[in-house]
Amino acid sequence: MSLHDRISSIKEAAAQELRAAKELPSLERAKGQFLGPEGSFTALMKELGTLAKEARPIAGKAINAAKQELESILAEKRSELELRAALPKEPADFSLPGRRRPVGRLHPLTQVTDDIVRAFRKLGFAVADGPEIEDEYHCFDALNTPKDHPARDSQDTFFIDTEGRPLLRTHTSSVQIRVMEKTPPPIRIVVPGRVFRRDNADATHNPTFHQIEGLYVDKGVTVSDLKGTVEAVFKEVLGDDVKLRFRPHYFSYTEPSLEIDFTNSLVKKLGKDWLEIAGCGMVHPKVFETVGYDPEVWSGWAFGFGIERIAMLRYGITDIRLFYENDARFLRQF
Ligand code: DAH
Repeated sequence: MSLHDRISSIKEAAAQELRAAKELPSLERAKGQFLGPEGSFTALMKELGTLAKEARPIAGKAINAAKQELESILAEKRSELELRAALPKEPADFSLPGRRRPVGRLHPLTQVTDDIVRAFRKLGFAVADGPEIEDEYHCFDALNTPKDHPARDSQDTFFIDTEGRPLLRTHTSSVQIRVMEKTPPPIRIVVPGRVFRRDNADATHNPTFHQIEGLYVDKGVTVSDLKGTVEAVFKEVLGDDVKLRFRPHYFSYTEPSLEIDFTNSLVKKLGKDWLEIAGCGMVHPKVFETVGYDPEVWSGWAFGFGIERIAMLRYGITDIRLFYENDARFLRQF
């Protein structure tokens, strides 16, 4: 057999062997067999010396071309086998729980809201929701708020348009109306949500903040139910040293109306005796009439807390704006 024929037959055999390799070790073994120091190609190279001078360059070229061809088959096969070796041996179970520790945490306002809601749910309250973009009827009229009430002024309320006067709700009390409109009594709900007022931001005011509204309607409901319920929830959320005080007040949608003051050791540390944290009262008969409940049969109470206030008390925060700046150094502490 001529040298050229031997080159091509060894090349064919080598190519076949490389292509047939099923695993990396057998590929490397095949490589050594043909291209290694003891390999058949290396032997061919050595044979070049025995050839006539003129024949050497042509034979050398043929050997190199064959080697190059084999190297490229080798590289291709190697990357294919490496990829296969990296695949998982067992099928992955995507239903397993993740192993990474959760990144981030809930905003302090969300944590406080969740705790308050949880405390009310234990007492049988359900969570209700309503729109942040409201109409004057649900935000004011149905709550017995007269047309000339200062809260309705464009100085205090964000009106979105003059047509139909849609507005950003100034309190979550509008949701009381929306729920009563479509649900017959009895009712036991809480409504956490965002509200908007044209306040300039300072340490205790912000143009948007959060409230939690409560509404309880049944037969024979009294102010003492209101006091007992609110007190139980505050003790659960803010600790047993909490004291509440109920003061007479005025809201157009409750009669009598009350304001709730709060104190505990932290309030005292801040140098105050009491902090005002909520409005509440017995639902006004006019409100019941508006939603079609008979005020002779049904009675109820309602309240509205400011969530920021409660969170500030719980964590000893003195500037409300910290809640909205999303400074990670602040948020990481909760
Ligand atoms: N809506 C009142 C406010 O934003 C709070 C409030 C007072 C809610 C009395 C009520 C209530 O449900 O009965 O200041």
